[in-house]
Amino acid sequence: MRIAVLASGGGSNFQSLVDRFHRADSPEREVVGVIASREGAGVLERARRAGVASAVSPPASMSDGAATFLRRTLDEWGSDIVVLAGYMKLVPEAVVRAYWGRILNIHPALLPSFGGRGMYGPRVHRAVIDAGVRITGATVHFVDEAYDRGPILCQWPVPVLAGDTPESVAARVLTVEHRILPAAVEALASGAVRLEADRRVRWVREWFETETFTNREG
Ligand code: GRF
Repeated sequence: MRIAVLASGGGSNFQSLVDRFHRADSPEREVVGVIASREGAGVLERARRAGVASAVSPPASMSDGAATFLRRTLDEWGSDIVVLAGYMKLVPEAVVRAYWGRILNIHPALLPSFGGRGMYGPRVHRAVIDAGVRITGATVHFVDEAYDRGPILCQWPVPVLAGDTPESVAARVLTVEHRILPAAVEALASGAVRLEADRRVRWVREWFETETFTNREG
C-alpha cells in the first residue's frame, strides 16, 4: 500500500506515519511522498531526513494549477491512500473524486464539533476551552468536498483539565493523534474498514479491539 501525505506544518503526524510504515520490516506499506502546501514547511525537512520524496504545491491562487499538480503528483507516486496531516487547504473536488474513499484527514477535536473553515491549530483548542467542554479528542475522517465534514472513521477522547490552555490541550491531543492516525491508515490499508458509495463507513472487522491503545498507556 503506497501512502502519500499532504501537509502544511511541522509534520509530527507525518512523522508518526513514517515511524509506523516507512520501515524495512513493513514492505507491504510505504510512505511514498509528501506534498507541502508551502515552501519552508517543517515537514519537508522531516521528509528529507526520512528519505521520502517531497513536493510543494503551487499557491492556492493558481487553483486549477494546484488541482492538476496534486492529481498528477499523487498519480505519479502510485498513491493508494492519501493522508491529510495538518493540511490547511481545501482538497480540490477533482482530487476528492479521483481518490474517493481513500483520502483521510486528522482533526484535533471530536467532530462534528469544533471543525470547519477557519477551525485549525490553537483556534480549535481555544474554542474547546471557551465552550467549557470536559472532553475533547482527535478525529480521523474520510475527506469530501468540505472542510472537516467527511464521514468519521475513528475518534479518541482526551480530557480537558482545570487550568488548561490551548497549548496544553493541543499537546495532549497531539499525542493521541500520533496513535490514531497510523492505526486508522492501517485499518483502511488492511481492508478492515471502507467507505461505501452512500457515504456510510463500513467496518468489515472491528479493528480497534486489536489496537493496544490502552495497554500502551499502561
Ligand atoms: C495537528 O493537530 C492536526 O490535527 C491539525 O494540524 C496539526 C498538524 O500538526 N490538522 P503536525 O504538523 O502534524 O505536527
